[in-house]
Amino acid sequence: MSELTSDPTIVCKCHGITAGQVRDAVRNGACDLTLIQQRTGACRGIGAATGRTVCGSCAPELVALLVATSRRARPAVRDWRVSASA
Ligand code: FES
Repeated sequence: MSELTSDPTIVCKCHGITAGQVRDAVRNGACDLTLIQQRTGACRGIGAATGRTVCGSCAPELVALLVATSRRARPAVRDWRVSASA
C-alpha cells in the first residue's frame, strides 16, 4: 500500500506529515523509525494539527514507507564473482 501512496497524502494526521516528507527523510538518510520521527516530526510529542498527545497509529505506515523507499534507492547488485582459473 505504501508504494501506492502519493507524495501529497497525509500519513500522520496528528502532525499533518505527508508521504513525500517521509520519503525525502528516508532518501536523506533516515534509516529507522526514530530518525523518521526526528526529521519529520511525525508520530512524536504533541500533534501540531490536533494539539493533543499523538496517537502513534501512523507508525506502521511510516515503517512501510521506509521499507518501500529504501528498496527503490538500493543500488543494483553487481556480480563480483572471481574467476576460478588461478
Ligand atoms: S497519526 Fe501520526 S501520531 Fe497520530
